[in-house]
Amino acid sequence: MNTKIIKIESLKDVLLIQEAAKALQEGQLVAFPTETVYGIGANALKIEVVKRIYEAKGRPSDNPLIVHIGGPEEVARYATDIPEVAYPLMARFWPGPLTMIFKKKPLIPDEITGGLKTVGLRVPGHPLARAIIKTSGLPIAAPSANLSGKPSPTEAAHVIEDLMGRVDLIVDGGSADIGLESTVLDMTTTPPMILRPGGVTRAMLEEVIGQVAMDAHLLSHEAAGVPRAPGMKYRHYAPKGQLSVYEGDHEKVIEAIRSAAKEAKAMGKKVGIIVTDETKACFEADSILSIGSHLKPDEVAKNLFRILRAMDQLEMDVILTESYSRDAIGEATMNRLLKAAGNRLYHVGD
Ligand code: TXA
Ligand code: MG
Repeated sequence: MNTKIIKIESLKDVLLIQEAAKALQEGQLVAFPTETVYGIGANALKIEVVKRIYEAKGRPSDNPLIVHIGGPEEVARYATDIPEVAYPLMARFWPGPLTMIFKKKPLIPDEITGGLKTVGLRVPGHPLARAIIKTSGLPIAAPSANLSGKPSPTEAAHVIEDLMGRVDLIVDGGSADIGLESTVLDMTTTPPMILRPGGVTRAMLEEVIGQVAMDAHLLSHEAAGVPRAPGMKYRHYAPKGQLSVYEGDHEKVIEAIRSAAKEAKAMGKKVGIIVTDETKACFEADSILSIGSHLKPDEVAKNLFRILRAMDQLEMDVILTESYSRDAIGEATMNRLLKAAGNRLYHVGD
């Protein structure tokens, strides 16, 4: 398959926006930026087209796709039994990085939802994503635009790396602001339950609707059963190198990373260390990449996937990192980091 790449720099590029929307209407796969990560979009109502998304990503078919819509007024077309608490959440967080799960209407094909009777809906906040979706007039199924298992793409270059020859069109609209995927909130339970942490935090949701629950798998890796967001059960976001995370007393963490680096080096491995502005002077390794400042959790979130991909480009065998604050978006950052590390988390010194 030939993949066309177009760069859209502003909403004034109306013809290019129309080209992307027309491609969607014609049943093509179109990768485009959202404020969270890039997505591979396709007409959510056409089964054959939806199947192509799974092929392009190499994604297991039991892992449901999020449907992206133009605004809250479209929810009732695709979902039913919408609870009252959903409306203040739509008003406060849409457009934005919040996906809400509702009972689906039959119009939504089972192929999208992995056989579940529910559907995830989101109104993305990125102006270009909104313009393309609105112009297409369609609900757009869009998973993150990475090959299944790899870190999600935050720049067009990442999409090109993974999906060249696998999608029809890639819209380059610059880098994704947030850098981590949307919060997935199950609205079919009382209270609503977070299935995947993201840009909209638990505290932000609770400020609007009171109590919000968390899937037990997010709180403990030993929780029984499978997570309720099917995607959360897969090894995910993972670089090729073996990633380990060190947590605890600051000095001890630095010491532990230093000695792990030395050990791996002695075994002939190429070692990459993910550092922060605060710790970059502390280490020596084959590659040292800074994820930003500990004092700026948004920056750390935004850089995480890019850094994991960069470590792969540099062909690091072993990747070591300190852990980050779990406050606010840090909860999502640590969720993705630990998944990428296959839960190789070492507590040191406390
Ligand atoms: O920020 C985002 O949400 C990005 C951008 C492109 O919008 N999209 C994204 O899609 O991350 P994807 O397919 O990579 O992740 C969707 C997650 C998966 O963990 C999936 O299992 C969960 O949402 N999910 C989707 N529909 C669901 C449903 N009906 N019930 C439970 N979990 C659902
Ligand atoms: Mg994904």
